[in-house]
Formats: sequence, C-alpha cells, structure tokens
Amino acid sequence: MKILILGVNGFIGHHLTNRILATTDWRVYGMDLSEDRLESALCNPRFQFLEGDIAINREWIEYHVKKCDVIMPLVAIATPKLYVEDPIGVYNLDFEMNLNVVKQCVKYRKRVVFPSTSEVYGACPDPEFSEDESFLVVGPIQKERWIYSCCKQLLDRVIYAYGTRGHLEFTLFRPFNWIGPRLDSLYAAKEGSSRVVTQFIAELLMRRPITLVDGGRQKRCFTYVDDGIAALMKILANKDDRCRNEIINIGNPDNECSVAELAHLMKKIFMDHPDHRRDGEYSEITEVAAAEYYGKGYQDIYTRKPSIAKARKLLDWEPAIDLETSLTKTIYSFLEENETHPGTEDRC
Ligand code: UGA
Repeated sequence: MKILILGVNGFIGHHLTNRILATTDWRVYGMDLSEDRLESALCNPRFQFLEGDIAINREWIEYHVKKCDVIMPLVAIATPKLYVEDPIGVYNLDFEMNLNVVKQCVKYRKRVVFPSTSEVYGACPDPEFSEDESFLVVGPIQKERWIYSCCKQLLDRVIYAYGTRGHLEFTLFRPFNWIGPRLDSLYAAKEGSSRVVTQFIAELLMRRPITLVDGGRQKRCFTYVDDGIAALMKILANKDDRCRNEIINIGNPDNECSVAELAHLMKKIFMDHPDHRRDGEYSEITEVAAAEYYGKGYQDIYTRKPSIAKARKLLDWEPAIDLETSLTKTIYSFLEENETHPGTEDRC
C-alpha cells in the first residue's frame, strides 16, 4: 500500500509514519514544512519526504494523490489559543486547503482517511459522544473558538456527501485528546499557545505557575498516542472493508479527568522524576479566568467523553494505556528531549 501523508511531521503524522515503517511493508510519501520529528524515518527507503507547503506545492500533491492508494490530509491548526487569535488562518488552512485535497481524492477516486475531531461535538450534552447519534452543538459566532469545530464539521459533511453519492471512499476518525512524546513544541508553550499537557510540562520546567482556566473543572479523556495509532493502523488496513464510509471516535473513556486533577497528577509525576526530586522549588497551581487566558472569543467545553463502541466493533480495538502511565511516558519523553537539547529549558 502507498500512503500519502500531508503534515507528516506533525504529532499524529510522525508517530503514524514510524509505526507504518516498523510494522508493515507499506510505503509512505510525506510532506511537511519541516522534518525535525522524522529523524528515524528519513533514512528508511520506504519513506519519501518533501519539505513543502500545502498552499504552494500543489502539483507535487496532485501527482502523489494520483500515485498513492490512501490519502491522509493531516495538515491543520489544532490549538484553541490560535482558533481565537487567528480564525481566518484556521479557516484557510483547516478548511480551504484540505477541501482542495479532498476534491483531488474525488477526481482520482482515492480513499481518504481524514482527521475529524472530538471538537465537532462541541458542547454536546450527551454523557458519551456517539458518531452516528449525537448532536453537534456550538456557540455563537462571536465565540470564535468554534471556527475550528465548524470547519471540521463542514468538511466531514462534504466528505460524507461525496461518499454516499459514490464519488469517494472515506473513513473519518475523531481523536479525543491524544497525548504523547512530541505533542507540541515547548517553544509554542512559552507563548502559552500549546495544548494543555504540553503547556503544563513547560510551566513545570520553567517553574512558572500552572494556570487552571476557570478553576479546571472541565473534563477530558486523555488518550495515549500509541493506542490511537493502533486504531489508525486498523483503519488503514481496513479489514473486510469494515471502515468504508464510517466515522470512528478514537479515545480512551477510562482516562477521563478534570483539568485540575490533571495538573496535580502531572506535578506529582514531575516531582517524583529522579532529576527533579530535589529541585526544592516547583510550580504552584493557580486559577485564571478564561477571558483573561484566551481572550473574549473563547468558550470552553466542559465534558468530552467518547463512545468507543463503534471502534471496538469495527476495529476490534481497545485502548490499553491508563492515564498515569500515559502522562508519565509523555512527561519523561519531554524531559529527555530537553536534556538532549541543552538550553531548551532556558529558551522555553
Ligand atoms: C483540543 C484541540 O482543539 C485539538 O487539539 C483537538 O481537536 C481536540 O481538543 C482533541 O485533542 O481532542 P481542548 O481539549 O479544549 O481542545 O484543548 P487543550 O488546549 O488541550 O485544553 C484542554 C482544557 O485545558 C481546556 O478546558 C482549557 O481551558 C484547559 N487549559 C489549557 C487550562 O486550564 N490551562 C492551560 O494552561 C491550558
């Protein structure tokens, strides 16, 4: 199988590429703006990389859509701070650029495996979000945070419509707060524009206060990336064509915790680390109002738990890595990276 991954250096892209190269005979053609997370893949003969931009290298993309069997457009802005700061940038990249790729998949009749998102459920009141039943609930236009959810939802609907009319074969997957090594860069965290787990790691390293937005009562189900990638591998393999034109949540409902619980657990893991046991001084855990932290265009999502009945049934898959192990592996990998690139601590 030949797989085209746009955004191959991203969090999901590079973990997936490593797993494909290590466990299958598939070939990967990847494009991204940079290659810093791809070290081990770059020397594999089954991996070809182009340093390029989805907005510029259109001919390369079209040629590879034609050439490959499965297309994974993983390029997107996926951090809430940026939804509020640069909604037009989110729309252009997450919607327009990706729509072009989807249209090429239609033109060349290629299978697309597309990253939808847990964010499409928005403020859905269901205790567990179901792919084929739950309502997708977003806030008013002035709350610009929802632009990401809406862009992704509209693409889901476009892809679904092409699929049901017989113009496209697709699988939409919805990651629920995947975490793991190299989630976001610590430099982005310095500016306060990372997802919560990287943000808290950066604060712990810099001895800056960990801030709980609106008290940290909001809950998420954190999913270790290895579990997520295992599900994605099964989607790509598509045994008995089970994933054709399906939407599948990929998350770990057993790992649900509030952001406040997350902060305390992460601080404990950091304080128990052999290099930090004797630091003597650690980040305090404080509170901040959402409008102050993110700006007035923000609105939070208070609960977000996936139903994974469909993933279990279609993929014969079960997440296995519990919350504490997931966080320990993630924190330790960031600390190791910081160690091997001395000075990062100061720079971040
Ligand atoms: C994320 C992002 O939108 C995407 O990465 C993705 O599509 C999706 O969710 C997902 O991974 O499933 P969210 O979970 O709200 O959205 O983003 P985080 O930045 O990880 O924040 C989680 C929670 O922590 C939010 O309630 C936020 O207010 C809170 N937070 C964040 C804090 O309390 N303090 C901080 O310093 C940062």
